[in-house]
Amino acid sequence: AKLKLAIVVGSNRRESINRKLAQALAKLASDSFEPSFVQIDDLPLFNQDLEPNRPEPTLRLKREIEAADAILIVTPEHNRSIPAVLKNAIDWASRPYGRNSWAGKPVAVTGTSGGGVGTAVAQNELRMIMTNLAGVVVGSQVFITFKEGLIDAGHNVTDEGTRSFLKGFVDGFAKTAGKLAA
Ligand code: FNR
Repeated sequence: AKLKLAIVVGSNRRESINRKLAQALAKLASDSFEPSFVQIDDLPLFNQDLEPNRPEPTLRLKREIEAADAILIVTPEHNRSIPAVLKNAIDWASRPYGRNSWAGKPVAVTGTSGGGVGTAVAQNELRMIMTNLAGVVVGSQVFITFKEGLIDAGHNVTDEGTRSFLKGFVDGFAKTAGKLAA
């Protein structure tokens, strides 16, 4: 059976370039993974006071992360850090204390920005956070400079070099995640 891949996009923007990249990665990954997207834009802002009576979207998030064999996070960079909407989701799924849903999941991280080194700083921070929570962050660092038309309406990467590079990234992740799941 294929490994279940939960994809988290760190943007709630309608025309998110990171969602476009994530959709292209889902398509490239479908040989080796069964991909699904995790919704994070309807989670309330984390507040410990809500924990005794946790809102349903936060429970759904935990169920989806726990059901996954591997996690792919595709994130923008906001002011040299990860977007608040992503941190909010990470925090919700890490709780309650002792019931961290990320624990033991292999995680891969990437992201895109219009800038050349865009998302590098955010990805470093995210790798640190996820190493602490999940234990295993897999793969080398991948930064994609987004250009108009890079990904078409059918979620295909139009540039052949970028396409084969991203295919290598998802296939490498599947291989390592498969070993960890065995
Ligand atoms: C940005 N952007 C940005 N880009 C970057 O490469 N490094 C950064 O530090 C920032 N900082 C930043 C802060 C805030 C508040 C916003 C709204 C934007 C630009 C960012 O890369 C651009 O908006 C992307 O389109 C965001 O990705 P999504 O939402 O389209 O996936």
